[in-house]
Amino acid sequence: MNPEPILEFLHAHRSIRRYTDEPVPDADIRTAVAAGQAASTSSAIQAYSVLHITRPEIRQQLAELTGPQKKVARAGAFLVICGDTRRHRLACTSAGTDYDARLEAFLLAVVDASLFAQNMALAFEAMGYGICYIGGLRNHIDAVDELIRTPEGVYPLYGMCVGRPAEAPGPRPRLPVDQVLHTDDWPDDDALMSGLDDYDAVYREYLQQRGANPRGWTEAMVRLFDHPARTQLAPHYTSKGANLT
Ligand SMILES: Cc1cc2nc3c(=O)[nH]c(=O)nc-3n(C[C@H](O)[C@H](O)[C@H](O)COP(=O)(O)O)c2cc1C
Repeated sequence: MNPEPILEFLHAHRSIRRYTDEPVPDADIRTAVAAGQAASTSSAIQAYSVLHITRPEIRQQLAELTGPQKKVARAGAFLVICGDTRRHRLACTSAGTDYDARLEAFLLAVVDASLFAQNMALAFEAMGYGICYIGGLRNHIDAVDELIRTPEGVYPLYGMCVGRPAEAPGPRPRLPVDQVLHTDDWPDDDALMSGLDDYDAVYREYLQQRGANPRGWTEAMVRLFDHPARTQLAPHYTSKGANLT
């Protein structure tokens, strides 16, 4: 296999936030889900499921709850990706034993669901669709859950908009490989931080070109992480049967 076209395809990823009105046929959704299922999964537990939201009124309410993010209502399709331990619980119950909820089981579901989702995203992109993950799904997790009525043991993690792209954004620059690849030893903190200066400049330039508030990546991260956010997640997932301790 020639890796070049595949590497080029991977590097061509951009989140797409504006879509044409074209719907996504069920057959394409099934194809992408099957490709998602081909991803590696811890001990084959396949601890995920995906809810395809087709009712326009639910899409509209989810668009409000996620931001508002209009694309959630307007994209060709909207999917909710869930960590799903339901089948494991039922298997234990029918075997006459208790399902032992634990942090490890929750993490397995989050990791499994994310490998599944990213494979699915790539499959959609390979079919010419654009996608955008929607972490805003966790902004009001209780209200979202009332709408989509997940059973115990199922944890909505994020959404995914899918549709034919109506925009062609440039690539959002990533950290240099040397910031994330370390060989045998860890860099010291000073080296890590001073290495960010150049990236901050590149990132600022990228945001400026997009017409967004130009700030370096470091500053953007401080603004994200210097205050509490989505504090209802632990109680919510616990109320749905997760043990997060
Ligand atoms: C789990 C996850 C949640 C995300 N949530 C949102 C979201 O709610 N709204 C949005 O517009 N983009 C969202 N994104 C897209 C990221 O902002 C985007 O992937 C990142 O800025 C890199 O840009 P790129 O995907 O175009 O390379 C999310 C991405 C991930 C992986």
